[in-house]
Amino acid sequence: MAEFTLPANSKIGKGKKFGEPPGARRKKTFHVYRWNPDDGQNPRMDEYEVDLDRCGPMVLDALIHIKNDIDATLTFRRSCREGVCGSCAMNIDGINTLACTMATEDVKGDVKIYPLPHMPVVKDLVPDLTHVYAQYTSIKPWLQTQTAPPPDRERLQTEEERKLLDGLYECILCFCCSTACPSYWWSGERYLGPAILLQAYRWIVDSRDEMTGERLDNLEDPFRLYRCHTIMNCTKTCPKGLNPAKAIAETKKLIFERM
Ligand code: SF4
Ligand code: SF4
Ligand code: FES
Repeated sequence: MAEFTLPANSKIGKGKKFGEPPGARRKKTFHVYRWNPDDGQNPRMDEYEVDLDRCGPMVLDALIHIKNDIDATLTFRRSCREGVCGSCAMNIDGINTLACTMATEDVKGDVKIYPLPHMPVVKDLVPDLTHVYAQYTSIKPWLQTQTAPPPDRERLQTEEERKLLDGLYECILCFCCSTACPSYWWSGERYLGPAILLQAYRWIVDSRDEMTGERLDNLEDPFRLYRCHTIMNCTKTCPKGLNPAKAIAETKKLIFERM
């Protein structure tokens, strides 16, 4: 029978409240999604009062302060803290973005933080990326050639050929775009989503790659590519300022042109 309400164990409850020590002058409240697969409890929103004078300016700094000084059980991913590893992607103030490049002062009022939407959650703010990485593997994201390389040098590109990779190579695979895409929410099992399709296009337009036809064959499918309906959420949310929707449109054009 069809179920029209959320399963009871998915409802988010009210969580614990943690205050800053007295004397804090610049306080901001962070509401953070919490879920622990080991305790059998529903997800909850914990509330942390943070003294902004005790942490750096970014949302990630506040989360690190919470973990180090207020509640060591809070779990989230981060590594580079400068917008290049993609691991701190989460939903902050309703936007999929990187916690390390989002300034806390840019959020008006309380800061609400959830994991990236429509992904299974491993724990707290950590999404399970197993499926999306399997999709990434499926596009063979490496240089594929059939001819032998020149004996005395690398495979070279002209400046123009190299320029074609601009706006693509900068992608850090944070998946802010895919998890903002309604088509990926509903058809993510089969639709590759904007992050993976931008990566696929990056190899399609690489002048050194010799498997362009096979790469296009692999995408020519009603679900893998054509579930993109140009809604543009992906481009709007990309924290690196990239344009996955354009990469998808260019891929469709290449498939059309070779018909
Ligand atoms: S343009 Fe395509 S990939 Fe981007 S959000 Fe829309 S449907 Fe998704
Ligand atoms: S296109 Fe942008 S939002 Fe999407 S994975 Fe790459 S860097 Fe992240
Ligand atoms: S910690 Fe690497 S992108 Fe934020």
